[in-house]
Amino acid sequence: MCGILGYIGSKNATPYLLEGLKGLEYRGYDSAGLYVAGQGVIKRSGKVAKLEESIPSDFAGNAGIAHTRWATHGAPTELNAHPHCDQSKTIWLVHNGIIENYLEIREQLLGFGIACATETDSEVLAQLVGHHYAEGVPLEVAVGTALQEVRGAYGIAVASVREPDKLVAARFGSPLMLGIGDDGYYIASDASPLLAHTRNVTYLNDGEMAVLEKDSYEIMNLSRDVLDKKVEVLDWDIESAQKKGYEHFMLKEIMEGPEVIENTLRGRLDIENSTAKLGGLADVEERLKAIKRIIITGCGSAYYAGLVGELLIEEIAGIPVEVEIASELRYRRWTAVPEDTVLIAVSQSGETADTLEAIREAKKQGILTLGVVNAVGSSIARATDAGVYNHAGPEIGVASTKAFISQMTVFVLIALRLRELQNSTAYSNSTQEIIQELTRLPAYIRSILQNKDVVSDIAKRHADMRDALYIGRKFQFPIAYEGALKLKEISYIHAEAYGAGEMKHGPIALIDENFPTIALMPKDSLYEKTRSNIEEIRARGGKIIAVTSGDTQELSKITADIIMIPQTIECLQPILTTIPLQLFAYCVAHERGLPIDMPRNLAKSVTVE
Ligand code: G6P
Repeated sequence: MCGILGYIGSKNATPYLLEGLKGLEYRGYDSAGLYVAGQGVIKRSGKVAKLEESIPSDFAGNAGIAHTRWATHGAPTELNAHPHCDQSKTIWLVHNGIIENYLEIREQLLGFGIACATETDSEVLAQLVGHHYAEGVPLEVAVGTALQEVRGAYGIAVASVREPDKLVAARFGSPLMLGIGDDGYYIASDASPLLAHTRNVTYLNDGEMAVLEKDSYEIMNLSRDVLDKKVEVLDWDIESAQKKGYEHFMLKEIMEGPEVIENTLRGRLDIENSTAKLGGLADVEERLKAIKRIIITGCGSAYYAGLVGELLIEEIAGIPVEVEIASELRYRRWTAVPEDTVLIAVSQSGETADTLEAIREAKKQGILTLGVVNAVGSSIARATDAGVYNHAGPEIGVASTKAFISQMTVFVLIALRLRELQNSTAYSNSTQEIIQELTRLPAYIRSILQNKDVVSDIAKRHADMRDALYIGRKFQFPIAYEGALKLKEISYIHAEAYGAGEMKHGPIALIDENFPTIALMPKDSLYEKTRSNIEEIRARGGKIIAVTSGDTQELSKITADIIMIPQTIECLQPILTTIPLQLFAYCVAHERGLPIDMPRNLAKSVTVE
């Protein structure tokens, strides 16, 4: 969603702002703009490339702010694009988030003779800062006063024509971080644009404001009490945020699967003692020994990873789990939640607004909150009491791929840890067996990726389909949902998922020769059941694409479209069936010539409700 950048220092700000805007394109946006001190503002609806074409070569200055906008209030026009200004064009402001009381403030401003020119909630904020920016008032005072009058979420960067050697940034509910470089200070809404300039970062917390000048910076609260903030070092390397020769980030990120699993597991398996170690949970292990119920939450793919997590924890550790979409969980009545409950929030970006709010609700109940997060230092990582990082590296493609397989892998580790902490003699395979198979996963995934052409051929043959059905049982049920999500996200094909056993209760009525079914049927305890379901589909003229580790000869009597995957233990099989579904969605979208990394209407990081 909206991306924010800022720079002040000894260099020209424009190159960082433009490169940064390109680096933020993956988050999803529909207009872009920048303001450079001494030069003014340029905004365009549409792509950053269009903005870049409009920037004269001498558009240079030592301070500036920039923005990619994902429209919420008002159409994605040039007028509504950021930066926004106050009436006197002294204050320039970029904003991510939603100002909930903007209509109220707009009325108040009208009373002061200030009329807004755009449809956005963000302009109201620029006008409000301008209103408080009387002669002699420093910029940070005007910003701090204005922010105390607004409700809602914001990450902002503000520049002033009157104080060209200063920028102010502030946050409440929308991500914002500062990069501390040798040649100046950088503002960014996520880490990727910073990587080429500095690894030293400090994250703003809600209610904090940074005042940046050329040679110094201060972080303070809105009442301007200066805070002592830690500078942290980003450990992502710049190559991992680049395409490395692949046509799309999504393909690169799928192909990284084996290393992602290795990185997620690194240092966390003690093979000799048959145990999993999770440093991020060490401080809360005493509490975890006593927990009796787990709630998992997340959005999109993270939610589906949570559904796999539910089965893993129930099977391996024997603790009851429920999973709820964060946008629902946050508004549910939390009736007498026992204190031996724990919330696990799953998020690749660590910035998803609904997930963050669900955590806040859980905290109000006084229960332990844990995060399964990829982006180190992100809001969710900091809002939770403890957690496990994915170490999957930056994920740029809008459709989550490598983060999803890493999230499932983390749930295996959490389940193993809980089994040991609770001395659970529950169900399923032995810990030793699970650990052994976990270490084999990278090789299994490599072998699936080596057969990418089989998936690609099948995808080409089905690329003109209008609908698709994904079915699976137990561990394959959430994967059916994730597979359908991947297809609709990037190929815009209507796809739905069903538990294979539920098929006869509705979706089978849709089946005909133009409505293929992707059946997830590794050779597990439910293989025979799913096989019966695909027989029923075939009997009605439906085409089947089978993803299986079963008997090809037998299946070839039902369908010619068979994608083979290696056989592992049932609880790890979902990690393997995911890979061909990611490849399949990618190949179908590729065949249809679609913008795979930045599908229409979607955002990578959904920072508004
Ligand atoms: C967006 C992304 C999805 C992602 C979801 C949750 O919809 O496009 O790929 O699964 O947000 O994001 P999170 O960062 O919280 O995992």
